[in-house]
Amino acid sequence: MRGSRKRKPIVAQTRIPGEITTARESVERYWFKLTERDDRLARLVTAQDARTERHHRWLVFKQAFSPELVRLFHRSANPNVPILDPFSGTGTTVVECAKHDIPAIGVEPIAATAFTANAKFVHTLNPLPDIADCRDWPDVADRLTDPLHRAALIAAQASRLTANGSVNNNAPTIQAAFNQLVEIIREDIAHPLRRENLIICADGRDLSSIDDKSIGGILTSPPYLSRHDYTKLTNLFQQVYHHWYPQAPNMQLPAHPRSATRTKHVCNHPAVVEAANTLIAIDQSRLARVVRGYFDAMCVSLTHWHRILQPQSPVWCVMGGARFKDVYIPTDTIFADLAKREGFNIDEIRVARRVINAGRKFGTLQNVAPRESVIMMHKK
Ligand SMILES: C[S@@+](CC[C@H](N)C(=O)[O-])C[C@H]1O[C@@H](n2cnc3c(N)ncnc32)[C@H](O)[C@@H]1O
Repeated sequence: MRGSRKRKPIVAQTRIPGEITTARESVERYWFKLTERDDRLARLVTAQDARTERHHRWLVFKQAFSPELVRLFHRSANPNVPILDPFSGTGTTVVECAKHDIPAIGVEPIAATAFTANAKFVHTLNPLPDIADCRDWPDVADRLTDPLHRAALIAAQASRLTANGSVNNNAPTIQAAFNQLVEIIREDIAHPLRRENLIICADGRDLSSIDDKSIGGILTSPPYLSRHDYTKLTNLFQQVYHHWYPQAPNMQLPAHPRSATRTKHVCNHPAVVEAANTLIAIDQSRLARVVRGYFDAMCVSLTHWHRILQPQSPVWCVMGGARFKDVYIPTDTIFADLAKREGFNIDEIRVARRVINAGRKFGTLQNVAPRESVIMMHKK
């Protein structure tokens, strides 16, 4: 009888007509068996605890993970061989390791951030100059020569910024923020870190200066694809640092639309090429270059990581997935695939939370949304 047959609802597979999704579907399907939701991690991939914990609270990146994650990682790593964080930001890994007397090295290209993190290993707060008559931060900066005082001013300026890097309208004056930071520093250094670790200001993609098999574990979080432009977010406190020290070249890896570069690609993973081709098809060549550049950086990094790690060493990598102009990029499962190719054993992909809440149909997969995950693996 006409009209009695139920019509199937028409569901757009993606929002891009004719988009080919085979390679990304396949990588998702392959790794789903090792992917597990872990609600405890939802807090540990955020900087919430760092805002109150000693030594971490001086300068907190919204994009940092919790010191608790570092403590969890310690359980699986050899405490006598250095831990590496090649994208170390404010130094959560390196500083937390120092608290537990575990050797660790960090790499961070933003000199102001690396400088402030390294200041945490200073044990003495020297007497401060009088800054009561200073009008703005350059006046204060002119009176500071001691590195720890300078770090306090950088952190004080950072504390006055909103999450997107501009000065908060309700921020305290720079003197008030500075005095507050000095009090925090005074309290914290009364409990000195148990060892002197180091954050190197350099490009974390190039680890050629680190010896083969000299690292006992890697805990890190590379910039999330598309989320944050670190150069912009940190610009106003970088200015404070560059009041005293010269500018260095920008070594940020391509993760944000403003950071697209034209380079020869080393990563030809089909899911990466597929996502980039879709972006090119919808006139988003710049975003396509970001995606290709991002995974090039991951491939180069993974090769170095495999070389410098001792056998059986654990790696935890906190990553965020992305949706660029409706083009879905499953960062964690692609990364797992790249790591497997490099010779790592993938233990688990723990999903902490969704980066974008609304899920979508993606090819033949249902309810897919970019995730924030911890890829847990080890060198065989
Ligand atoms: C997600 S944040 C890491 C936050 C860090 N876990 C913390 O405790 O603050 C990513 C960091 O990677 C840094 N980064 C960007 N490009 C880099 C590169 N080429 N080498 C090393 N680090 C880089 C950014 O400046 C940023 O600090």
